[in-house]
Amino acid sequence: MCGIVGYVGSKQAQHVVIEGLRRLEYRGYDSAGIALVHSVDGRGAIASDKKSGKLANLDKAITESPLPESTTGIGHTRWATHGAPNDTNAHPHLGRDSRLALVHNGIIENFAELRAELEAEGHTLLSETDTEVAAHLVERELTDGVDLTVAMQRACQRLQGAFTLVAVDARDPDRVVAARRNSPLVVGLGEGENFLGSDVAAFIEHTREAMELGQDQVVTITREGVEVTGFDGSPAQGTRYHVDWDLSSAEKDGHDWFMRKEIHEQPRAVADSLLGRRGTDGLLQLDEVRLSDDDLRDIDKIIIIACGTSFYAGMVAKYAIEHWCRIPCEVELASEFRYRDPILTQSTLVVAISQSGETADTLQAIRHARLQRSKVLAICNTNGSTIPRESDAVIYTHAGPEIGVASTKGFLTQLVACYLLALYLAQVKGTRFGDEINEVMDQLDEIPAKIQAVLDAEAGIYELAAKYVGTKSVLFLGRHAGYPVALEGALKLKELAYIHAEGFAAGELKHGPIALIEEDLPVLCVVPPRGRDQLHDKMISGIQEVRARGARTICLAEEGDTAIVPYADVLITLPKVPTLLQPLVATVPLQLFACELATQMGHDVDQPRNLAKSVTVE
Ligand code: G6P
Repeated sequence: MCGIVGYVGSKQAQHVVIEGLRRLEYRGYDSAGIALVHSVDGRGAIASDKKSGKLANLDKAITESPLPESTTGIGHTRWATHGAPNDTNAHPHLGRDSRLALVHNGIIENFAELRAELEAEGHTLLSETDTEVAAHLVERELTDGVDLTVAMQRACQRLQGAFTLVAVDARDPDRVVAARRNSPLVVGLGEGENFLGSDVAAFIEHTREAMELGQDQVVTITREGVEVTGFDGSPAQGTRYHVDWDLSSAEKDGHDWFMRKEIHEQPRAVADSLLGRRGTDGLLQLDEVRLSDDDLRDIDKIIIIACGTSFYAGMVAKYAIEHWCRIPCEVELASEFRYRDPILTQSTLVVAISQSGETADTLQAIRHARLQRSKVLAICNTNGSTIPRESDAVIYTHAGPEIGVASTKGFLTQLVACYLLALYLAQVKGTRFGDEINEVMDQLDEIPAKIQAVLDAEAGIYELAAKYVGTKSVLFLGRHAGYPVALEGALKLKELAYIHAEGFAAGELKHGPIALIEEDLPVLCVVPPRGRDQLHDKMISGIQEVRARGARTICLAEEGDTAIVPYADVLITLPKVPTLLQPLVATVPLQLFACELATQMGHDVDQPRNLAKSVTVE
């Protein structure tokens, strides 16, 4: 939530900041703002502008009334928490004397108390935000004669909650200072210039050398260098790393939406996430797992925690883990987990799934688990983000940057990581033979080509989507591993097309959902592959029941499944895969369907209303 950029160097800061915000806009797009440090009659001054709505509004405003030239600046794109998304509440906020400008991501929990304190001292606050309180606090410290770094350190010691703050001081034009607690911030290391960003996309155009920061740290960037301290001023170190993707990965590559591009990247993303997992000894190896095999053998319960789409990946993982490893596995929404007093022991493995690695509820949940001495393994797509850093082990998915707010390649690669984890545990615990594990690995290796086959047939899905423009309600049915796919299909439609959509376990139909069926209601059915169990046949019975009541059935079924033909008004064929792996191919048509339907309805697919990609507040 919220994107933050900071720059000091020799380029025009306005350009660097606006381009950085453009790449961070997926984090929030309620308003945007910029502040630059420039000189008026030899004295430093802040020039700033901010506008409600998308970045384009700010861009237009500063094109019509240009800001002065400057090589030091900060910027912000907002997802509103405190106060409506209007011009006044947009960031940056200024201190009382307009000497300091500050942007913020997060929530300052004790802001009411601090606001009262400032108002009692005669400060007038113009906005409803918690951010303006921070701006006044830091500037108050500045007027005490200390520099911006010390002022930031002192102010942070007064703040409670989660925050990333970035500030500039009119009287110190070559310095940008930032602080972080439980909210993301990375440093971009350039030659004669340095950058700050909520994530590396903010500065990837300029440098691929980055530095991650720890909790409760203050960082000062100048042209010449970067200095890190704790909130108490004690020296600290950031960790340098090289970003292994480049600007082209963050561009749309000829697609109309990042989301559509990311859907098409899935064969590559899945293949990359499978790379290098089989050792020369034929054994599966997950080199990022820092827990010993003995630790893993002792695991007697697994709890998976996640939010949104990642939660549905966790639901699929449960089927795989219990089937292959025979370890009891629960899946829980991260936002519910901490508040139900979960039973956690040293032999519980908590698996946190998060594309961004920054989701506040998931982060708080793993902290809770670690306090109870459980082991935590993260499945994450973002190197250096907070959740993997605070976990005992991590399996990185290799999806590359995901910009579209609705997760696609993030989800498929999370599924891959979940299968790999389940197989690895099965190997360590000895619940599956080596040749069984190898057989599944072979099946996984075939998946990228099968996803490609689904993508090659996208035209049919687009035609179908066009028929449903304006539809009011859509149901999704699935069973077994197809049930989370149904939930994910419904979520995508809600998120992107703003259509009422619900996913149900097909076996539950008769317990309520069937009452929703009326003439011509579209029902998307994820049909399990034919197998030794009765899942396939039972699903067909459910489909018959809704069809008999007038529903229009759109069935996703494996090629050659002739049994489904009489009951499908529309048939979308899927490549043959085992039941447990079916989500990897069955999800793709549902992503394409939602993306296209939303496009045809004129919605902004990459930035759906009210949403943000990375939910860094609880
Ligand atoms: C937001 C995004 C979803 C995502 C969820 C969890 O709601 O819009 O696409 O699934 O957060 O995010 P995470 O980064 O933890 O996977």
